[in-house]
Amino acid sequence: MDVPDDLARRAADLDVEHADAYRRELFSLPADLVYLDGNSLGALPRAVPAALADVAERQWGDRLIRSWNESDWWGAPERVGDRIGRLVGAAPGQVVVTDSTSVNLFKVFVAAARMRPQRRVVLTDPDSFPTDLYVLDGAARLAGLTVERVPPAEVATRLGQLGPDVALVSYSSVDYRTGELWDLPELTRIAHELGALACWDLCHSAGVVDVRLDDHGADLAVGCGYKYLNGGPGAPAFVYVRSEHQATFDSPITGWHGHVRPFAMEGAFDPAGGITRARVGTGPMLSILALEAALSAYDGLSVPAVRARSLSLTRFFVECLDALGHGDSVATPRDDGRRGSQVAVRHPEAYAVVQALMARGVIGDFREPDLVRLGFAPLYVSHHDAARAAVAVAEVVDGQEYEREEFRARATVT
Ligand SMILES: Cc1ncc(COP(=O)(O)O)c(C=O)c1O
Repeated sequence: MDVPDDLARRAADLDVEHADAYRRELFSLPADLVYLDGNSLGALPRAVPAALADVAERQWGDRLIRSWNESDWWGAPERVGDRIGRLVGAAPGQVVVTDSTSVNLFKVFVAAARMRPQRRVVLTDPDSFPTDLYVLDGAARLAGLTVERVPPAEVATRLGQLGPDVALVSYSSVDYRTGELWDLPELTRIAHELGALACWDLCHSAGVVDVRLDDHGADLAVGCGYKYLNGGPGAPAFVYVRSEHQATFDSPITGWHGHVRPFAMEGAFDPAGGITRARVGTGPMLSILALEAALSAYDGLSVPAVRARSLSLTRFFVECLDALGHGDSVATPRDDGRRGSQVAVRHPEAYAVVQALMARGVIGDFREPDLVRLGFAPLYVSHHDAARAAVAVAEVVDGQEYEREEFRARATVT
């Protein structure tokens, strides 16, 4: 995988220009690997194993039950939530780490319906990540809502037609397949114009896109901890409830961690104030604390600087594909304002292309039906990595390496 000199020089210049948000030394990554799957599972921050060893050996092994107080395990969901809040533009007290994205989606969908009891329609993207669609359909059955699947570009028109029937507009900030970035400020604004609430799935934007939830008036949001936040496989998720909605946030899953007096052990649910009412039961403490340690990789970084580096990486990767004669296969918008932190490349044998790339030390993933998905986690991916990946794509495709039998057997996880 020899990178042509002109691309190598440009990569070096861009790496200098955007050095402020590059922290690969904080991650434990094999030296030569080009890891472009941080939009699926983030890399391991070096801070995590040491933190986990302390949690397991000292806090759990030695201090045992006392750690709930001594190490403030009890307050960890809100504490870690506030750290994520900084990355998504939420002032403290509006984000809590709890449950999975799927479960949090269920909570916010039903709670939103209860905040708009006279309205019966929810708008969502037909191309949403499947769990969002499944959970919304399930929540709608319970709450008596009708779900309409409307592409983001048609939301304004449909809202105009339905008017005051719409309770909620629920979209992902970034399309998980194509990497297209939707206009969160504008969609939120038009939802509000007609009195609807706006909920955002930030799985593909938290930590890489400057979503500024507070500034743009988002009502509710969810996101996962295992992609760009690097919390590890199955890391707990987060939920954002704008402070002005917290008093009326009526979760359908009322567990004791969301109770105002959890240790009074009362027989009836009385919700805690603030974001705490979005908690349910005892969280996976090892995972929550691993996520907390992982977030230290963002300490001192400004989200706009991370976003600038992310855009530079994806822009440069597309530029390399153009230079190598593969620009036509790019499925992701070239306009910076419409791109998240990934580039998707179309190919009829995309699955086998991904396997062939992996054999060359370039890791991405495959999404049906024909997408090679390459995520650029700005903290540990360099412009030189981007150039190497583009060369690998060109060589795999031009050399028809994807035809090889060994690259065609499907694994469970793609
Ligand atoms: C946009 C989006 N929402 C939700 C999920 C997954 O939700 P969960 O963490 O509950 O499996 C993903 C996973 O990739 C995703 O991309």
